[in-house]
Amino acid sequence: MVEFPIYRLRRLRKNTLLRRLMRETTVSVGNLIMPYFVCEGKAIKNPVTSMPQVNQLSIDNLLKEAQECQRLGIPAILLFGIPKKKDLLGSAAYAKNGIIQKAAAAIKDKRIDILIITDVCLCEYTSHGHCGVLSNKSVDNDRTLNLLAKTALSHAMAGADMVAPSSMMDGQVKAIRTILDKNNFTDIPIMAYSAKFASSFYGPFREAAESTPAFGDRKAYQMDFANSREALREVAQDIKEGADIVMVKPGLGYQDVIYRIKQEFHFPLAVYNVSGEYAMIKAVAQKGWLDEEKAVLEIMTGFKRAGADLIITYWAKDFAEWLNA
Ligand code: PBG
Repeated sequence: MVEFPIYRLRRLRKNTLLRRLMRETTVSVGNLIMPYFVCEGKAIKNPVTSMPQVNQLSIDNLLKEAQECQRLGIPAILLFGIPKKKDLLGSAAYAKNGIIQKAAAAIKDKRIDILIITDVCLCEYTSHGHCGVLSNKSVDNDRTLNLLAKTALSHAMAGADMVAPSSMMDGQVKAIRTILDKNNFTDIPIMAYSAKFASSFYGPFREAAESTPAFGDRKAYQMDFANSREALREVAQDIKEGADIVMVKPGLGYQDVIYRIKQEFHFPLAVYNVSGEYAMIKAVAQKGWLDEEKAVLEIMTGFKRAGADLIITYWAKDFAEWLNA
């Protein structure tokens, strides 16, 4: 090896073309998933205060957005539902004419060429806001599984192309895979929220999805943010149960977890760049304290560098527009 200072790493960074040539990681629009919050009604576009540019949309407006995403080359959208009525069992989650079921059918009807991924969880649909049904004020894992399975099946029947269970119930992937297979939906993949941490960064989402728990928190089912070996066990379990894609959520404070999972499993891996991460950058950018576009490119590249294959982000559309600009 040539001795310092003759050997210089900086030689390869000195102009734009060299930097482009040497770039190890790129994020493409093809890796992005855009989330939406769908509500009942017509011509509705309710801004979510803590998430600038994010809205609760009625189905007519969602269709326009889905078309936009298709035009921009975004391959997939992730749908969260806001039902008309909530109850103890979250029955609007698996109702035949539930909001997600109607939204999926409407997109398919319009023949919009985009993958419809649906969130499978009860928290938006239960009156208490927890991700499962309650027994004695705590979430009953096993009674919830059946309802999650029913929800996933109803989504597939309505036209969903992929389901994404996010409730962190043990056995949710197996319960969903089993019911889908039994009903001839063997081709519908499952993207499992495998390592979902109990995080304060979901705050703005809970405003958007109207899913703040009425009492307590989600620590009994979501993971302790101090643990990464446990994340590996969660991922191993989900892969065993039949997950096609596993996920880490949130993203920003968890890149070590992304890296470890990628190294250990070599499995398709998604990261959820969550609402609080979005709100944080938006707020700072609005103050003019940093450049949003550059910051977002840096964050997305960081996710990919860590090992994420797919990125779920509220910036998907903006990102596509910036890349096309
Ligand atoms: C529902 C769910 C949540 C998010 C995705 N699915 C909220 C939660 O667990 O409280 C958060 C996404 C975000 O913050 O952007 N279980």
